[in-house]
Amino acid sequence: MKLKIAVLPGDGIGQEVTAEAVKCVEAVCRRYGHEPLFSHGWVGAAAIDLTGDPYPEETHRLCMASDAVLFGAIGDPRFDNDPKAAVRPEQGLLRMRKGLGLYANIRPVETFPSLLHKSPLRRDLVEGAGFVCIRELTGGIYFGERGRSEDGQAAFDTCTYSRAEIERILKLGFEFAMKRNKKLTVVDKANILETSRLWREVAREMAPAYPEVTTEYMFVDNAAMQIIQWPRNFDVLVTENMFGDILTDEASVITGSMGLLPSASVGVHTSVFEPIHGSWPQAAGKNIANPLAAILSAAMMFEYAFSLPEEGLAIREAVRASLEAGFVTGDLAGEGEPVRTTSEVGEWIAARIGL
Ligand code: IPM
Ligand code: MN
Repeated sequence: MKLKIAVLPGDGIGQEVTAEAVKCVEAVCRRYGHEPLFSHGWVGAAAIDLTGDPYPEETHRLCMASDAVLFGAIGDPRFDNDPKAAVRPEQGLLRMRKGLGLYANIRPVETFPSLLHKSPLRRDLVEGAGFVCIRELTGGIYFGERGRSEDGQAAFDTCTYSRAEIERILKLGFEFAMKRNKKLTVVDKANILETSRLWREVAREMAPAYPEVTTEYMFVDNAAMQIIQWPRNFDVLVTENMFGDILTDEASVITGSMGLLPSASVGVHTSVFEPIHGSWPQAAGKNIANPLAAILSAAMMFEYAFSLPEEGLAIREAVRASLEAGFVTGDLAGEGEPVRTTSEVGEWIAARIGL
């Protein structure tokens, strides 16, 4: 099978971790007889430096013409510390999500037995925990009208959701629950927000069509607490854009390292696969970042974009083997244990896939 993959490494450590994901894609393609066709594109601060635009038209066309996008990370402190910057790298990511119609961000939170000791939570709480967060990605306060008052001394951001936007993301939530342990947690703030009340209304209407699924409703503040107190109680969690942004960062630490969590953004056009960690500019170019989230994002790409689960599993098994062998970057190495570089870990996993 020919696989047209757009590679958008973006900023900071995005370059290094994506390069390792590409090596693993090549390895799995060699093993299973596929032909990967990679094309590179610019996005984020790297694209601003080159073209003045964080998501140039050329990059958009490349994504549209590809079967899948492997994405690194976005963000650069030069822009974070300048509240008046007219263009920002993050705008590129939002425009890409909107432009490709990626309304759902799927973030599986998986625990690895060999890493339980790295979790800030007690082993008896996290052992066996595993759930999927489904975050709405192209609506809500991220995309609502925003601005300043005339004198600039007041500011506003608005959160808007249409019934159609809510329905399509909830549908995905119910379908995921059907494929997993049949429990869906709808997270909102329906005691305060009108958009949340509409979410709940729509969810209640849809639930009877999935009689096997137990649907529960939880306020976001309560969910933030329960995720770390009883992570095993969750199976599929579905929520709006900003709640999902916050909860998935929180959920990621349960596993012991944020460097482990992949994601898939799916919707209307080409799907995008990216680690959930950021661009970690302080580490850029040092060959120290953990490439596992990027590599696991490549596994999700095989599963979701190409419907090749065996290939995805081959990557996952190689990642698991690297963890069990203790062949890991500094964030995961125990005291006194050897610390491997980004590229050493990537190459170890690629070689393992080839076995
Ligand atoms: C994420 C990131 C982005 C977001 C930023 C970089 C715009 O934090 O993918 O979670 O807030 O969605
Ligand atoms: Mn985030």
